[in-house]
Amino acid sequence: MTSKEKFYLTTPIYYVNDEPHIGHAYTTIAADVLARYHRLLGHDVFFLTGTDEHGQKVAQAAAKRNVPPQQHADETVVRFQALWKKLGISNDDFVRTTQERHKRVVQTVLKELKEKEELYTDSYEGWYCLPDERFWTEKDLVDGKCPDCGRPVEHLSEQNYFFKMSQYQGRLQQYIRDNPTFIQPESRRNEVLGFLEKPLGDLCISRPKSRLPWGIEFPFDTNYVTYVWLDALVNYISIPGYATDPARFQKWWPADLHLVGKDILTTHAVYWSTILMALGLPLPKTLFAHGWWTVDGQKMSKSRGNVVNPGEVIDRYGVDPFRYFLFREVPFGQDGDFSETALINRINSDLANDLGNLLSRTLTMLERYTGGRTPRARGEAAGRSRSAAKDGGAAGAGRCPARKAGISEGVDRDLGRGQSGEPVYRGGRAMGPGERSRQRGAAADGPLPYDRGAPDRHPLRLPVYAGDGVRDGAADGTPLSSKGSH
Ligand code: MSP
Repeated sequence: MTSKEKFYLTTPIYYVNDEPHIGHAYTTIAADVLARYHRLLGHDVFFLTGTDEHGQKVAQAAAKRNVPPQQHADETVVRFQALWKKLGISNDDFVRTTQERHKRVVQTVLKELKEKEELYTDSYEGWYCLPDERFWTEKDLVDGKCPDCGRPVEHLSEQNYFFKMSQYQGRLQQYIRDNPTFIQPESRRNEVLGFLEKPLGDLCISRPKSRLPWGIEFPFDTNYVTYVWLDALVNYISIPGYATDPARFQKWWPADLHLVGKDILTTHAVYWSTILMALGLPLPKTLFAHGWWTVDGQKMSKSRGNVVNPGEVIDRYGVDPFRYFLFREVPFGQDGDFSETALINRINSDLANDLGNLLSRTLTMLERYTGGRTPRARGEAAGRSRSAAKDGGAAGAGRCPARKAGISEGVDRDLGRGQSGEPVYRGGRAMGPGERSRQRGAAADGPLPYDRGAPDRHPLRLPVYAGDGVRDGAADGTPLSSKGSH
């Protein structure tokens, strides 16, 4: 018996300094849709999400509330977990970077890097952006501020540990050129290649405890804790068993997909890739950076008071309409704008009008022409399962729930699965009960075709067409729904 094809996908792990918002929900739902889709294809899926609980941001949020950082994390993490439950997120594990199972592996990684002579100490002088948790040199600054987020930076001078990242610059450039589907969409890949045109520095991976005690202690120098980004990135290997469960790790690594927002592509494409190279591990198959949501045309921020709370949206409009909206409204990979008006329009036009209308007409026709009984599926449907049989592989015909459910080549295409079956995530417009339902709906809507004479246009066939439409729509939309196939 052939073993099932595996699919390991991750979201970023979110800082527990604040409430989860629509941006966090977006990445997590995207991962959930893909996880459900791969399960439907019969793949063995491991879907990992979680929270990033160390570092200065979290320490400061805790200090502001006057509670210890661990207590702050414990109290905040439940908001993420509750929201994922409400959104129907089907993750297989949830990592918290304060868990022992993760901390152990971060320390092992540090020891390995030291043994491989990938680390050195040096005094560091530079400018630190607290919100981004990143150092910048004087020349990086734009008008004396962080070049990334435009916020003020503070001057720091201290002794630290560095990872020899710069020595991997050429190898990484070559890898990205040789593997066109590694960073997607293509525009983001070009951005990373552009970034790598400039000389790459080494990476400061420690923080003196005297300045920041909230982190994973260095295993060979108790004066330091681990830089929060190295700590966080390691979650992708600590949870599937790196250095603790070789068989499990071999099964899942490399990850098939790291899904991230465009804001954290460099840390993934450059920091993470070079750390993996230094450890001698293969790189993830794909890094996909999606766009950002604005709200009513404006950047979302607490100070503007326009942060969208997904829980409130769901309470008013329902989980599945919200999930549908996020992936129908904007081609995956591009930026999008959230507004309640757009959400309402989408619900009215696509879900109530197109899909609802199709369903209602189909039911009426079934009632009128077949005495309320569902006719057998058309030859086309049988043809589809025959072609699914040819698909073979792990997702073999009869057993493949996706094919049984009628998941079409259209979904493969929308998700950008290439001919070889390798996902290429072209960032097409989302999968949903959209297009085909609309076509079928239009067909069912048209003039009754019995006067056209063709046998296939007999009124008895009509409910079948329409029934196919409903089934296609439902099947294409299955992974998108919070209840679809888990
Ligand atoms: N903790 C780091 C990630 C470490 S991964 C090893 C982090 N956390 S975060 O809480 O700031 O979440 C960042 C992610 O949230 C973004 O990459 C993106 O996935 C999502 N988004 C946050 N705001 C967003 C929008 N306005 N729009 C879309 N997604 C955004 O960075």
